[in-house]
Amino acid sequence: MSSHLDNIPSTPGKFKMDKSPYRLRHSSYFSLAKLTFWSVVFLGIILIFFFHSPSSSPLPSDPSRRSLRTSNWGGPAWEKRVRSSAKPRSRNGFSVLVTGAAGFVGTHVSAALKRRGDGVLGLDNFNDYYDPSLKRARQALLERSGIFIVEGDLNDADLLIKLFEVVTFTHVMHLAAQAGVRYAMENPMSYVHSNIAGLVSLLEVCKAANPQPAIVWASSSSVYGLNTQVPFSETHRTDQPASLYAATKKAGEEIAHTYNHIYGLSLTGLRFFTVYGPWGRPDMAYFFFTRDMLKGKPIQIFEGPNHGTVARDFTFIDDIVKGCLGALDTAEKSTGSGGKKKGPAQLRVFNLGNTSPVPVSDLVSILERLLKVKAKKMIMKMPRNGDVQFTHANISYAQREFEYKPTTDLQTGLKKFVRWYLTYYGEKKSAV
Ligand SMILES: *[C@@H]1O[C@H](CO)[C@@H](O)[C@H](O)[C@H]1NC(C)=O
Repeated sequence: MSSHLDNIPSTPGKFKMDKSPYRLRHSSYFSLAKLTFWSVVFLGIILIFFFHSPSSSPLPSDPSRRSLRTSNWGGPAWEKRVRSSAKPRSRNGFSVLVTGAAGFVGTHVSAALKRRGDGVLGLDNFNDYYDPSLKRARQALLERSGIFIVEGDLNDADLLIKLFEVVTFTHVMHLAAQAGVRYAMENPMSYVHSNIAGLVSLLEVCKAANPQPAIVWASSSSVYGLNTQVPFSETHRTDQPASLYAATKKAGEEIAHTYNHIYGLSLTGLRFFTVYGPWGRPDMAYFFFTRDMLKGKPIQIFEGPNHGTVARDFTFIDDIVKGCLGALDTAEKSTGSGGKKKGPAQLRVFNLGNTSPVPVSDLVSILERLLKVKAKKMIMKMPRNGDVQFTHANISYAQREFEYKPTTDLQTGLKKFVRWYLTYYGEKKSAV
């Protein structure tokens, strides 16, 4: 990781610093001139640093922030990389800014867009919520298909403004977020930082852009919270979140409404239902069940009240990618310009699920067969700290709008995940 960071071009300020001692050798013996010269150089360095370094921009000093501050952006070479990555192959291709591009869904969506000829620029802060080396491996994968991921935080407004200066984005695929339901009790501020402040920071730049991009972003099935009507439909109530994560995603949907209403931004929210697959997130049950079962470690399986079944509408990553592209392709243009609304703009929310909930015990049985390992199961009562007992998507709206139709069942999808898992971690182990 450090070797990667070392390769990033240094800031303009550093180049000036390297040159100045050379000039001094030719200066005279007059100490006053010398002193004046050095004062000017010193002042210059401070000014250059102040104006060019994004680290000088005030950020909330939030102790819960886990991301590494990186300020290695800017300069002609960097801008060239940004421009070339975002350039579509065909004249009417999209130019898409993908936030959270080194994330699970972000990587797959970026690769799919690039494959069909769109231009893609990634943005990711590479925080350590889960093993950053997995994010680096996904980054390397995207790099091979010509996608550049800018390292930076959504809350760095200077960086976002710069990106929109360099590229005229037609679309933003906003997938960066603090994920996870139970982690919200450990680090609540990181949810506010990414899912609320980060979203507002992004929308502020989008609304001011000229032309404004159309935005598709990741909400979550968790907004249904304590809703008991099944299957979950977009018209059901979403005002009873069961976790802070869900509450921040719900807040995001309301914030989207505001920016649509005031500034004419075209906004589409996607409520993802338990996405899984190759290159997935290690904090998800299917992923750490696999890891722990292979290690012979016991796994905790939750059950609802009165031994009730806990089930999830597991959705395979390829189906989610198709849904994301469908949403992008049917997104209408934003109507505002220069921060002013010119007319009503599109505002949508879609469920993206699989429409067939599977009990978690079945998930474990499938993994046992695929891994050829017997799981050491510990049945536990599901704690009331964020998880809901059951999720099931009604996807008829997405079906109607962009022919969204998931085609991968859990058995098939997990087979692909396990194949990836064994290759990825097998190779890593043998490389050590
Ligand atoms: C799914 O939602 C649609 C409205 O989008 C509704 O007409 C339909 O009845 C729902 N299906 C079920 C099984 O609830």
